[in-house]
Amino acid sequence: ALVTTTEMFKKAYEGGYAIGAFNVNNMEIVQGITAAAGELKSPIVLQVSAGARKYAQHEYLVKLVEAALELNDIPIALHLDHGADFEICKSCIDGGFTSVMIDGSHHDFEDNIALTKKVVDYAHSKGVVVEGELGQLAGVEDDVNVAAEDAQYTDPAQVEEFVSRTGVDSLAIAIGTSHGAFKFKPGQNPQLRFDILDEISKRLPQFPIVLHGASSVSQEYVQEIQKYGGNLADAIGIPEDMLRQAAKSAVCKINIDSDLRLAFTAGIRKVLSEQPEAFDPRSYLAEGRNNIHTLVKHKIVNVLGSDNKA
Ligand code: G3H
Ligand code: 13P
Ligand code: NA
Ligand code: ZN
Repeated sequence: ALVTTTEMFKKAYEGGYAIGAFNVNNMEIVQGITAAAGELKSPIVLQVSAGARKYAQHEYLVKLVEAALELNDIPIALHLDHGADFEICKSCIDGGFTSVMIDGSHHDFEDNIALTKKVVDYAHSKGVVVEGELGQLAGVEDDVNVAAEDAQYTDPAQVEEFVSRTGVDSLAIAIGTSHGAFKFKPGQNPQLRFDILDEISKRLPQFPIVLHGASSVSQEYVQEIQKYGGNLADAIGIPEDMLRQAAKSAVCKINIDSDLRLAFTAGIRKVLSEQPEAFDPRSYLAEGRNNIHTLVKHKIVNVLGSDNKA
């Protein structure tokens, strides 16, 4: 059966590693990720966004994840990524998910607490765990000045009150990561605020922290996409050594979506470009799936450190 993240985060915290939380949207993505995790005996979180539910439908995604569970002997949690309101969280809790995120980070502090607590009360009554968020991830597109960027980081002074008043099981924080494949401007030095992370983890002993926007945007895949007709110039992610450092800390969940998209797209572009006569979807989807398999193995062993922890 699907598990919650409680046990996996506890072991990750104590063991100094992190669990990969991978976004899924279709069968090939589920298969690529779970085959890699299965071979390496790594626990994983498979997460589904509102957009993924709209694209693939809740029922298909649950059944795909259940199939993966049947075929791979590893702990898997099924998680709602960026739940925007109580209703979508309830729908996922009632529909078999073992974990939900309520993303109240765009609300003010009191409204975020009220919304998050409402989700926690319902989720806990059903045995489901909840991830909350404090602080806003930077959007590199926004032309914000340094002071404004600073204001978006999670304020360590707020975390104890947020966690104790809401009862959340894990907390997503903003320390300089961001969503998508363009996290830093060309020439900008990628940086994460490990000082803020340290301060937060001191105030929340033994408490699991989550990093969103944590793709590395491997230049290998970016260049392959460029080579085969794509246009992703200047795509930049979080350097792997920073993620390794984060994984050793209180960070227990590292969210990865963009890297999967890049790997999948690179494989499909390669086949369609090298074999213009190819029109069997299996030929190019298999190459996308292979790339995801390779990528996730690399993440588990070289970035997360979650291999042989199942
Ligand atoms: O954080 C966002 C995830 O990458 C999901 O993206 O909303 O386009 O499915 P999506
Ligand atoms: P990336 O865009 O860096 O992969 O982040 C994904 C994420 O945070 C999903 O919630
Ligand atoms: Na960790
Ligand atoms: Zn996210």
